[in-house]
Amino acid sequence: MLERLNEIEAAALEALESVKDDEALQAWRVAHVGRSAPIKMVYKEFGKLSKEERPAVGKRANEVKVALEAALTERAEAIKTAELARSLEEDHLDVTLPGRPVRHGGIHPATQTLRRILTILADMGFQVYTSREVESDEYNFQHLNFPVGHPAREMQDSFYVEGGKEDNPLLMRTHTSPGQIRAMREFAAESPENPPSIRISLPGMCYRYEQITSRSEIQFNQVEGLAVGENITFSDLKGTLNDFARRMFGQHARTRFRAQHFPFTEPSAEMDVECFLCEGEGCSVCKKSGWLEILGCGMVHPNVLQAGGYDPRRYTGFAFGMGPERQAMLRHNIKDIRYFWGNDARFLEQF
Ligand code: PHE
Repeated sequence: MLERLNEIEAAALEALESVKDDEALQAWRVAHVGRSAPIKMVYKEFGKLSKEERPAVGKRANEVKVALEAALTERAEAIKTAELARSLEEDHLDVTLPGRPVRHGGIHPATQTLRRILTILADMGFQVYTSREVESDEYNFQHLNFPVGHPAREMQDSFYVEGGKEDNPLLMRTHTSPGQIRAMREFAAESPENPPSIRISLPGMCYRYEQITSRSEIQFNQVEGLAVGENITFSDLKGTLNDFARRMFGQHARTRFRAQHFPFTEPSAEMDVECFLCEGEGCSVCKKSGWLEILGCGMVHPNVLQAGGYDPRRYTGFAFGMGPERQAMLRHNIKDIRYFWGNDARFLEQF
């Protein structure tokens, strides 16, 4: 039996000599260490051996098994090394070939404008405050002084989502203004008797259930600004927004304020900036008026301050809201808002 084991080992190792690739190695593995390999047969016949023979044969059989497995591992390594050497030797590697250009992604034009607005506002002391996109009717409308029955609250004008209560349904925020209430409440909670003053920007996506046209999309970004404190006046609002316009549209940007109505500000206004394409001459972008409407603004309504935890007898504030896509459209003369979410690289690559 010991003789047979020696033969098995010698035959297997000899066969391994001629194994030069992975395929042959697999075949060798099956033939010499696989389930029906000669060495495994020896194990099966073990029971037939006499008591005296068993220890020596068992020991030797184990040695052969271990030796064959070690030889297999070693050969596998050798094949790998040889293959690497061969590919370095024979395959062509032309280090002078020019590389393939890597295509870079870019920042979306809406995001570029959004970030520019936030950067300018940050320079002016407005800290970014992010608020949720799924809002409740309470925050999106009620606390913002929207009267019951206001058209924006109709099912046809907002995207309602499941999970709300009957008297306080959930919806995708239709503007960034509910963030005003969330921020005020958070700041006021720090010290309810003496809420700190606030100067924040509120960026983010808003949603409206609208017919998609070249001028209106169902989703768009807004950047809101909010300042709350003691002795804040409409002059502060105008001064801040004039400064913003000069930083955003150039040192000579002229602005004008027109009366407007929003439920959550009183008084309310819209700010126009002199058309930066025709410099007020009148062109197709400003529709011959020389002015471009840029944002809505106003003094925070007392009811809104109250809802935010700020006593309107002591505090005042101003707020404004603008659309980055609209500003990007004006700046780059983009005629159709649908390009923004159309995901057409030919459009996006231009910015
Ligand atoms: N929330 C308003 C809108 O979506 C914009 C606005 C913000 C107006 C803050 C006044 C003050 O149109």
